[in-house]
Amino acid sequence: MAGRGNFSNRLGFILAAAGSAVGLGNIWKFPFEVEAGGGAAFVVLYLIFCFLLCFPVMVTEIAIGRKTNKNAVGAFNALGYNKWNIIGKMGIIGGVVILSFYNVVAGWALGYFFEMAQGNFSVGKEFGSYVSNVSTTGIYALIFMVFTAYVVSRGVSSGIEKGAKILMPSLIVMILALLAYSLTLPNAMTGVKYYLVPEFSELNLKTIGGALRQSFFSLSLGMGTIITYGSYLSKKENIITSSVSVTLFDVGIAFLAGLMLFPLVAYSTGGDMSNIQGGAGLIFAALPSVFESLGAGLGTVLGAFFFLLLSFAALTSTVSLLE
Ligand code: PFF
Repeated sequence: MAGRGNFSNRLGFILAAAGSAVGLGNIWKFPFEVEAGGGAAFVVLYLIFCFLLCFPVMVTEIAIGRKTNKNAVGAFNALGYNKWNIIGKMGIIGGVVILSFYNVVAGWALGYFFEMAQGNFSVGKEFGSYVSNVSTTGIYALIFMVFTAYVVSRGVSSGIEKGAKILMPSLIVMILALLAYSLTLPNAMTGVKYYLVPEFSELNLKTIGGALRQSFFSLSLGMGTIITYGSYLSKKENIITSSVSVTLFDVGIAFLAGLMLFPLVAYSTGGDMSNIQGGAGLIFAALPSVFESLGAGLGTVLGAFFFLLLSFAALTSTVSLLE
C-alpha cells in the first residue's frame, strides 16, 4: 500500500509505530505473562530482550522498509533477495493469526467499555461467562473489525497518524493516574515487590521463551509491520532516533501498566500473590472491582474511559496488522 503518502514528520511516524507497538500486548498480555513467568525475574528478562535484541531488529526493519519503499514481501524482492521473501510471507500469515485472536480480545475491551459505562462492575467476577457469551462478544469483535478496515482505508497519515496523536498521550495520562491511585491502596507494596524484586530461582526455559515471545510481540517485530511503516517514513528522518523513541515508548507503557496492575491485583487478593486469577482474564477480572471501589460516579467514568482507551490502543495495533 506504499504510495499513499508519508507520515507528516518523525513525530507522526513515532506515534503511529508506537501505536502499532502499544496495544493489548502491553496492558492485557504483558501482566499475565509476568504472572505466568513468576513475577519480576520475567520483567528483567523482558527488558533485556527488548533493548538488546528487539531494538536492533526494529532499526533493521525500519531501514529495510524505508530503503525499498515496499511492504514486507516486496521489500525482499526489491533488495534482490526474492528467495527470502518467504520471511515476509510468513509475517503476513502471522499477522492474520494474530489479528484473529487480537480482534476477539479487543472486542472484550469494547464490551467492557459499555459495561463500565452502565456501572456494571460485577462483570469482572463473571468474566468466564461474559466471554463465553459469543453472541455479544462476537458482535463487538465484528464492530472492531469494521473500524479497523475503515481506518486503514483512510490511509496512514489521515487515519492512523491523527488517531494516534490524540490517543497515545491520553493513554499515558490514564495509566499514570491509575498508577498513582493503585499505590495508595492496601497491600499495594506487596504487588510492587512481586513485580520489581526478582526471584531468579523462578527462571526456566519456559520463562525465557515467554519473555522473548513477549518482547517481539510487544514491539510488533518479525511480522513485516514495521517494515511497512518504515516505507512511509520520510528519507529526512533519523532511523535510530525514531527506533529509540518507539522502543522506549512501548517498553515504558508495558512497564507502567504492570506497575499499575500488580498493586491492584494485590489489593483484590488481599495481598496473597499465590492466589492470583491469572491468564487472559487478569486485567478483565481485577480492574472492575477497583473502579467500583472509587464509587459509582467516578468509577463509572474512569472505568469506561479506561476500557475505551484500551480499545483505541488495540485499534492502532489492529490497523497496523491489517495494513
Ligand atoms: N504490538 C502489539 C501489542 O503489543 O499489542 C501487537 C502487534 C501488532 C503484534 C502488530 C505484531 C504486529 F505486527
